[in-house]
Parts: sequence; structure tokens; C-alpha cells
Amino acid sequence: MSLPPGFLDELRTRVSLTQVVGRKVMWDPRKSNQGKGDMWAPCPFHQEKSASFHVDDRKGFYYCFGCQAKGDAISFIRETENVDFMEAVKILASEAGMPMPQRDPQAQKKADRRTLLIEVMEQAVQYFRMQLNAGGGAAARAYLDGRQLPEATRAKFEIGFAPDGWQGLWDHLRSKDVPEELILACGLAKASSKGNKPYDTFRNRIMFPIRDARGRAIAFGGRAMDPNDNAKYLNSPETELFDKGRSLYNQAFVREAAGKGQTLIVAEGYMDVIALSQAGFEATVAPLGTAVTEEQLRLLWRMSPEPIIALDGDTAGIRAARRVIDLALPLLEAGQSLRFAVLPEGQDPDDLIKAKGASAMQAVVEGARPMVSLLWERETEGKVFDSPERRAGLDKVLKEAIRRIKDPSIRTHYGQEIDRMRRDLFFPPRVRDAKGVWKAKGPAVQSSTRASYLVSGENGSEERLREAVILATLILHPVLISDYEGTLEMMDFSDPMHARLRDVLLRRPETDAQAQQDAIGEVMGPEVLENLFAPRHVQIAPAVRNAGDAEVAKMCVAEELAKLKARRGVRREIDEAMEDLTGVADEGLTWRLQQAAEALNKAERSETEDKATYEQGENGVLIDRDERQALDKLLQGIKFTK
Ligand code: UTP
Ligand code: MN
Repeated sequence: MSLPPGFLDELRTRVSLTQVVGRKVMWDPRKSNQGKGDMWAPCPFHQEKSASFHVDDRKGFYYCFGCQAKGDAISFIRETENVDFMEAVKILASEAGMPMPQRDPQAQKKADRRTLLIEVMEQAVQYFRMQLNAGGGAAARAYLDGRQLPEATRAKFEIGFAPDGWQGLWDHLRSKDVPEELILACGLAKASSKGNKPYDTFRNRIMFPIRDARGRAIAFGGRAMDPNDNAKYLNSPETELFDKGRSLYNQAFVREAAGKGQTLIVAEGYMDVIALSQAGFEATVAPLGTAVTEEQLRLLWRMSPEPIIALDGDTAGIRAARRVIDLALPLLEAGQSLRFAVLPEGQDPDDLIKAKGASAMQAVVEGARPMVSLLWERETEGKVFDSPERRAGLDKVLKEAIRRIKDPSIRTHYGQEIDRMRRDLFFPPRVRDAKGVWKAKGPAVQSSTRASYLVSGENGSEERLREAVILATLILHPVLISDYEGTLEMMDFSDPMHARLRDVLLRRPETDAQAQQDAIGEVMGPEVLENLFAPRHVQIAPAVRNAGDAEVAKMCVAEELAKLKARRGVRREIDEAMEDLTGVADEGLTWRLQQAAEALNKAERSETEDKATYEQGENGVLIDRDERQALDKLLQGIKFTK
């Protein structure tokens, strides 16, 4: 029985602890101060001659400095009268002249009706079980055999069978004198619109009882035996017992299993739960033919801080996951998050376990990705971020998502993580492959996101290509190095090998190309130069093709440096804006990115205008226009061909 709110507080203020305790102890008059409610006595809970038992009447608490006994009036009565909590409350309430609250008659009636309904449901569970094992259940048993559900599993999940008649269950329950109204209220039968006898809800279906957290049967799920049935699964309608959005299939078992430390998994359907459980993943639940609800998430979090949502590897499964993300974002707290395990395409857990065994499922569970990673994928998948505007668009949606997280600490961490992934996407980290070539470090990207990853990765490559052209030109014309010393020193190279080459050029500038190449080979090994000159775009660079022409080389370096500078300006702007994103800043972010984009456009426009001057050359050197633009074309081409 529960007490109305405020009852205990009222009781504690009405009862004088000094009076309650005073019946059991002799106050020490020298130590006590009645007026201040500051009372001392030899302790009633241990043997002593001195008075180390203290009562603070105003606070309503006692504490013994000798044996550390402590508590309030209720605990004092419990300890000294040896009664339970409710008894102690009753004793004190009668002393204080407070009537004990009566049990709410409305609530009592409701509880009684639930009990009746649940009894009917239990009878239905038994009936369906019986039918599965009866003569008429042969086809159903064969079906379950085909799905590899042995007797032990059928018993554990109480799988049954509803035969293909109109009143099988109805007649059975009526023969046991179950009132018609209760059968209908359980959702087990439906009233006939033609005034005939009500008919069974479930016909010719494999039956899965759905139990609540306390193990009481509240609904059924029924799988059609007939593949042409227009509903593969039919669930009980919502009833007084069954609130779909607040229930989870297999919840009763899961509490125990999750309590023992098993990972809590959320699958999509009944058969997945059963297959997972059979394979040893006993802490598995499923929503009941609806999308996961907020109540279900809360239920899950009460059982485990980080349940794993296992999704069918199809578009519907992915879409379901994304709905869950939207639902979960505002609810995230420390120790209250989700992970997502994505199954191979076209497979559900049941299929995967059948095809590849429990270990394959284990691998999927272990590979479950944090929510932030799915959120990222949802916004980036299949999209191309080759312009600052598009990137700004991405920033905007991500920022909106992050903003929906209420918990400030989680929000910050999401911002940081998204920021990190964003840098990896736009400016991928580089590693050297077996041949020593620098490559974008390929993170475990989903195939669907890979396209956009590569495309945007080429933006990073474009800078790298320009760097290579600058360095190659300087190596062929080392006399130019001194002209660009300052710029080179300050330059950030996106490729660490380029940075090291720059260091060598600055430290050991030579007077001719051959000597310069020898110097580099000596310090860094010969393959460095091979790699630098290998790419086609470096070979067709005008300064490399016209290796003897110092003037062309000079212009080439100047132009590439200018282009790099323009690009880097934009990048810095985006980086700074991302720092704001981490802290979820204002709308200025998008604006700043647009400004940066404009700046880049302008830089590139003025370059085109300048080209005329370049092409004539100060001392009349003529450069083939097509040749000069070949690099640009090639660079642009890469973006769309890969
Ligand atoms: P699925 O269509 O993925 O079925 O539905 P399944 O779990 O793989 O079942 P089998 O292996 O074909 O037997 C997943 C869940 O969606 C709900 C059910 O709860 C089902 O378990 N569902 C599906 C319905 O409620 N009605 C339907 O018609 C289909
Ligand atoms: Mn299935």
C-alpha cells in the first residue's frame, strides 16, 4: 500500500521525537536542554553508563556517539518495537491523531479487473500451447521445425498455435464460463458486425505471448502460417492491459539477463528475439510492430545504460535507426545512450545466426557503433561536400541535431566528436602505403559514405597536388628557393613528406637541378623524388615540362602559391567555424562560411583576370594557354571521375 504524498512529512512534524524516545530512556538532566530540543540520554541500543545518545527534537533525528545508531521517529519505533515500516507508521499516526489513509477504492477496483483480464490471457496462452501439440497443430509444428525452434525454445517462449477456425478460442473460454465481455476486453475476439457470434482475433497463426515486466500475459503476437495472408504478423489490439508503446517483447526475461551483465539488444521482431536468445543473447527485446517509442527507450535505459539497437541491414532498418536517433537525442544523459549494430544487407539477426552462427552475430554486436557515428552518417551519406556552401549546409543540420541534446556535457562531447569526424572527412589524415606513397587514411567508412568521402578527400588532395608542383618546380630550379624562403618557411603542408622536402630545400639549396636531387636523395632516399614526380599532374606542370625555362618556373611557383593561399584561407575559416560548432554557437557560423566561400571565388576570379599578363610574360616568353590550364583541368576532372 502506498501513502499519499506528504503524509510522512506531516507525520514527522506532528510527532515529537523527544516524546517517542522519552518512553524508552532516562534523560540526562545536566546534559539536556529541553527548551532547545537538545536531549541526551544513555543509549537504548547499547549498554552504557554515560549519556552519548543525542536527540535533536527540531530536526527529528537521533544519533548515538557510542554505537552510531541513528534515525528518525519511524526507525526508532521499528527498532524498539520490532515492527515493519508500515506498522511503525500506524503506531505513530494513532499517537499523533492522524487517520491512516484508506486504500483508494477506485485503484483497488482497477487492480481487480486487471487480475481478471490477466487470468483470461493466461487461459488463452494455455489454449494456444495445447493446440500446438494437438493433432491440428501438425503443420504449425512442422513450420517451427523448419525455423529450427526446438521444444526447449517453444517451451521457454510459450509458443502456441491458433487453429484456423472462427470460434476455437471463443468456445473454449466460454465453456470455462469466462464472461464474453472479458474475452472481448482482452482483444482475443472481435464483435461481429452482422450480429453473429464474436470471432477469434487470431486464426491460423503461430502465437507468441507477450508478457509485461512482471511476467504477466498482456497480449499476443501471431505469425501467419499462410504466406498469402495479408498480415504476416498480427498483434493484439491495444487493451486495458496492453499499451504497445510501453511494452517490449521478452522484457520479463531480459531484466534478469541484463542484470547479469549481458548486453541488452533491441531487435526488430519476435523471431529475432527468439533466435538471439537461442544463440546465447538472452537480454534481447523487440518493440511490438511499431517504431521504438520514448517510453520504450526509458524502459530500456532502466535495464541498461547503453542498449544496442540491432537493425536489419535494409533501408527500412536504417530508417528505423534514424528515427530512434531523433527520439533519443533530447533524452541523452551520462550513462544513458545507445549503440547501433548494423546487420549485413538483407539479413535480420535470425537470418544471420542461421547462415553464419552466433559468432557472426557476436561480431556484429561488438562492432556496434556509437550514436554519434550514425548521426554523422545520416547527414553525410551519399552527399558531396565540394563547396563551402554545401559544407555550411552540413554544419547547419549537424548543429541543429546537437542543439537538441539537453545535457550540456553530452552536447559538448557530441560537438567535439562531430568536429573530429568533419575534419577527417574534409581533410583526411594521411598514411603511407607499402610503396611509400602518401594516401588518405581510409577509416572504416560504410560503402554508402565512401563515395562522398573520396570526393571530398580530393579537396585535400588538390592542395597536396599543388604542393607537389611547387616543390618539383623548386627542385628543378633551386635558384628560385631563395626568392620564396620566407613563404616556404611559413607554409603548412598537408603532406608530411612535403614538409620534410621543404626542410631539405631550405637547409641545403643547391645551384643546379642535379645537385639538388642528389642532396634530397642523400637525406631522404631516392624514392621520395620518384614519388614526387610520378603523378601525371606533376609531369605535365609547365615548369616540369619546360624544365629549362626559369621564367616559366618562377610564374608557376607564384601561381600555385597564390592558389594554395586562397584555398587555405577558406579552410582556416571553416576550421574556426567548426570550433564554434563544438560549442554550438549562433547562426553566424553559416554566414561566415558563406563569406569564406565568396572570398575564394573572388581569389579564383582575379587569377583568371591576371592570366593574360602571365601568358605574355615580361620578357616575351610565350606559354601555351592550354598547357597552362592543363593542371587546373586535371584537378577539376579528378573530383568528378573518381
Ligand atoms: P519482419 O517483417 O522483419 O519479420 O517484421 P521477421 O521478424 O523477420 O519475421 P519472420 O522471420 O519473417 O517470421 C519485424 C516485426 O515487425 C512486426 C512484427 O512485430 C515483426 O516481428 N510486423 C511485421 C508486424 O507487426 N506486422 C507485419 O505484417 C509484419
Ligand atoms: Mn526474419
